[in-house]
Amino acid sequence: MAQIIVNNVQKVFKTPGKDVIALKDINLEIKAGEFVCLLGPSGCGKSTLLNAVAGFALPSAGEITVEGKKITGPGPDRGMVFQEYALFPWMTVAQNIAFGLEIQKKEKAEIDLTVNQLLDLLHLNDFRDRFPKDLSGGMRQRVAIARVLALDSPIMLMDEPFGALDALTRRNLQDELLRIWNKLGKTILFVTHSIEESIYLADRIVVMTYRPGTVKRDQVVDMPRPRDPSSAAFNDLKRELGRLVMEEQQRHANDEMKLAAVD
Ligand SMILES: Nc1ncnc2c1ncn2[C@@H]1O[C@H](COP(=O)(O)OP(=O)(O)OP(=O)(O)O)[C@@H](O)[C@H]1O
Ligand SMILES: [Mg+2]
Repeated sequence: MAQIIVNNVQKVFKTPGKDVIALKDINLEIKAGEFVCLLGPSGCGKSTLLNAVAGFALPSAGEITVEGKKITGPGPDRGMVFQEYALFPWMTVAQNIAFGLEIQKKEKAEIDLTVNQLLDLLHLNDFRDRFPKDLSGGMRQRVAIARVLALDSPIMLMDEPFGALDALTRRNLQDELLRIWNKLGKTILFVTHSIEESIYLADRIVVMTYRPGTVKRDQVVDMPRPRDPSSAAFNDLKRELGRLVMEEQQRHANDEMKLAAVD
């Protein structure tokens, strides 16, 4: 059985004047250990779907289950990495990574062991006593990933985690994430609006439509890793997904033109 099952999920935001149907009839099954990207233009409901799986904002209709249990809120089986590095500025790198374990009242020796392992895994050893303000964006995002890994959730939810990074740092962290995913066997649900990023990373890419957010294409990527973005197969898929995303982008742009005309 799939680990995560999204069953006929709908999400409506009630705003003054009109209801926004952010998600409609979403059906998805994600297996344990799969790396799935949600891809689509701004406003298509990627974060809404991810937040529903996280349990931060539940669906208006339908349900999401993890290991057969309906999601009713956040839980230790799901960890979230956000785009903006959600680190505590007054804590060092090591303290930031230890924080979740301290909340869970784990033994000091166990916390130290886990923190040291994660500092190693993410090549953060030389930075353990630094504060977030003294780190580059890429380093901060490594700490954010380590913080989530500390809780050892089987599922990692990531909302455009590398969106704010420059191209080289981004590729570097994508490679790190693939290495960690390989080593630890987590399930990853990763939101992006970069077509190239989704092809580089995912086992499967779920392309979403713009308003209402539905599944436009559920695309298996069966190229071996590491993937070569200059290869013909990579570029064929990039072109094909680009066409799908552009159609939705265009609908978004038309929508905004209509709204502007009403103003
Ligand atoms: N709290 C809210 N209240 C009202 N509308 C909302 C709310 N959150 C999201 N929406 C609307 O729902 C739709 C989906 O938003 P969502 O943030 O999930 O999109 P997204 O795909 O993550 O976009 P982006 O790539 O810009 O992050 C958008 O039209 C957005 O305006
Ligand atoms: Mg979003």
